[in-house]
Amino acid sequence: MPTLDSRPLDPLAQADASVPVSVPPPAWTERALCEADLAAVVAMEQDACAHALHAWTTENYRSSLRAGYWARVRCEAGSGRIVAVCVAMDGVDEVHLLNIAVARDWHGRGLARAVLADLYARCRRLRAEALWLEVRPSNERARALYLREGFVDIGLRKHYYPAATGREDAIVMRRAIDLPEASHALD
Ligand SMILES: CC(C)(COP(=O)(O)OP(=O)(O)OC[C@H]1O[C@@H](n2cnc3c(N)ncnc32)[C@H](O)[C@@H]1OP(=O)(O)O)[C@@H](O)C(=O)NCCC(=O)NCCS
Repeated sequence: MPTLDSRPLDPLAQADASVPVSVPPPAWTERALCEADLAAVVAMEQDACAHALHAWTTENYRSSLRAGYWARVRCEAGSGRIVAVCVAMDGVDEVHLLNIAVARDWHGRGLARAVLADLYARCRRLRAEALWLEVRPSNERARALYLREGFVDIGLRKHYYPAATGREDAIVMRRAIDLPEASHALD
């Protein structure tokens, strides 16, 4: 019988519960957004956006908290620094994604997709059939993310956003949520 040290490096050995497996620690933790976070969240989002005008203001976040919207942050493990924020509003049979932002140094690492996955799970818990959002046509990164995530364009709101020169339209996008059968949902 080989000792632990002399075992060959066989990937199948990972299935053996007696072999210690090193599991990487989670890269972030998730919690509710609170008033004390607002300065850090606004600074993070302004830095993440192509233009400061595109970012939410402290007052936008504050009124979302007052309204009781679903507002969550992700904090980097260890430092506790806020690296993502997401705000969504519940409607009748649908949820509206109001804002999502990821710290610039975390872009392209799948954090937004993870945040959206949490939101889809919330939609399923609420039995919401669809998730809606608006996005600037010029926001190519966000557009690519949403298209890859299965959102489809369903309309245009003219002159919706303030822009550096005048106003910018908003593309309205929708993603259907696969709901489990009602009998399972009641479990
Ligand atoms: C849009 C945003 C939230 C994406 O966050 P992210 O964590 O970088 O996104 P992810 O790493 O989960 O990437 C998911 C997809 O986004 C797209 N994407 C991410 N980084 C990209 C980049 N640098 N260039 C182009 N597309 C990119 C890709 O389609 C990617 O798919 P892939 O993982 O299969 O390659 C982030 O860029 C951001 O905070 N932007 C500023 C705020 C903003 O615009 N919010 C959206 C308002 S509608």
